[in-house]
Amino acid sequence: MNIQALLSDKVGQAMIAAGAPVDCEPQVRQSAKVQFGDYQANGIMAVAKKLGQAPRQLAEQVIQHLDLHGIASKVEIAGPGFINIFLDHQWLADQAAQALNLPRLGVSNVAAQTIVVDYSAPNVAKEMHVGHVRSTIIGDAAVRTLEFLGHHVIRANHVGDWGTQFGMLIAYLEKQQSEHHEDIALADLEAFYREAKRTYDEDEAFAERARGYVVKLQGGDEYCRTMWKKLVDITMSQNQKVYDRLNVTLTRKDVMGESLYNDMLPGIVADLKEKGLAVISEGATVVFLDEFKNKEGEPMGVIVQKKDGGYLYTTTDIACAKYRYETLHADRVLYYIDSRQHQHLQQAWTIVRKAGYVPESVPLEHHAFGMMLGKDGRPFKTRSGGTIKLADLLDEAVERALALVSEKNPEMSADELQALAEVVGIGAVKYADLSKSRTTDYIFDWDNMLAFEGNTAPYMQYAYTRVLSVFRKAGIDADSLQGNIILSEEREAQLATRLLQFEEVITLVARDGTPHVMCAYLYDLAGLFSGFYEHCPILAAEDEQVRNSRLQLAALTAKTLKQGLDTLGIKTVERM
Ligand code: ARG
Repeated sequence: MNIQALLSDKVGQAMIAAGAPVDCEPQVRQSAKVQFGDYQANGIMAVAKKLGQAPRQLAEQVIQHLDLHGIASKVEIAGPGFINIFLDHQWLADQAAQALNLPRLGVSNVAAQTIVVDYSAPNVAKEMHVGHVRSTIIGDAAVRTLEFLGHHVIRANHVGDWGTQFGMLIAYLEKQQSEHHEDIALADLEAFYREAKRTYDEDEAFAERARGYVVKLQGGDEYCRTMWKKLVDITMSQNQKVYDRLNVTLTRKDVMGESLYNDMLPGIVADLKEKGLAVISEGATVVFLDEFKNKEGEPMGVIVQKKDGGYLYTTTDIACAKYRYETLHADRVLYYIDSRQHQHLQQAWTIVRKAGYVPESVPLEHHAFGMMLGKDGRPFKTRSGGTIKLADLLDEAVERALALVSEKNPEMSADELQALAEVVGIGAVKYADLSKSRTTDYIFDWDNMLAFEGNTAPYMQYAYTRVLSVFRKAGIDADSLQGNIILSEEREAQLATRLLQFEEVITLVARDGTPHVMCAYLYDLAGLFSGFYEHCPILAAEDEQVRNSRLQLAALTAKTLKQGLDTLGIKTVERM
């Protein structure tokens, strides 16, 4: 049930009946204050202006045509021409009772689209660091949300698995293998990369060999391909451990690295030249874009092929967008990438559109995010200034969570505490990121994310167990409840309204890729439940029907919290 969509539809029809153009925007929103009702239609003023009519008069006419029989208990005009809508409690009660028994909380089926989500994208022979955390966590929440709504989602892990550095990496892997006579575990990818680079800089014969391998690898040489694949496999199996621990849905089969597009690149460059988009400039192949200006105010040149024949990150992203449309049949593509890559993407996509590789009807969306900062407001680094390894960060999260839950649950067994700490610790890291608007930089602060108060994972996870405890105490199965919901108290009606807004929220998150909106909703819902729980006795309710009704509201709250947290990739437990 999407109340906002339902009311928009009804108000829209009434506006058209009152003489508004067919494409008028009713602008139905949740009201900010209770005295303005549950929803407000704000679109009358704009239409009245266009029609040259007095807004309040138009509002009067709209109300005459507005059929909210059985849905609203009161509709009134306010201020210059707003329409305030007060939902009928009986209607809310019926909708809530239905939602409880319907699969997927009664969320309607959408016309499913094929949506490609580009996220995580670590680099081969490099450890995943905090910079990839945001993409991985936020991207996976978007994927879960879209799948819940019924879309066909293709996860695209655009791994950095191609480029000239592979000559050096292959040569170094070979050196290690000959010295150790065994496959090294590459346990420390960061050290491996560093040492490879050092050897390359210091040993001329090694550098020579490395350069030769780049050419061979690009030419499809079997030995180089095998060594290259080994590097990819080792890196991705280490990353897989992180994904699993993070409760991120990515698997090996989602890897669609840069190498996948390599064969397309010569054809793309040739085609861009043929279409007159790319020209040779100082030996390189360049697309000049009027949309972007260089420092001199001239059209900016985007290199698609270097003088030495090498291709660039941009060339790959052009091919990649084309592939996602042509081969994967994407209706929409979402990219979860650092905001610093915004210009890069815009340039690649401008070329993609000009070349006609992806029609305008298929959106290419950069869901940008800011940086992860330390408490001092500077980029998040180790004390000695190094990048923080994701695996270490998660270890610390669980360790801290263990201290926290042990203190709270002295009677729990060590095993149970460890399992709980994993859920709370990992949940805290993820939720802290998800709950902030993704576009801004975000400050990583252990104390905030592990607090039991405020919009945090521990608070939300605990709130969920509190709802469940109602059923545990009474020995009632939350799934077996039947009967009517009765909303006689204001708090009950408020809780029911908020519960029924789940679809509105998830629809918005799916549209904008903003999981913080879901976090804010769930946090608010948990707060409303608290108030309801305190003021409206559930198990102690005297009337059997009231008790049953309140139990149903509690059951719907539990389901909604769990489902909401699940779309965010946050695990829950039954007790803590
Ligand atoms: N591997 C890149 C990095 O670590 C991110 C790739 C993002 N995806 C893309 N289609 N460019 O910065």
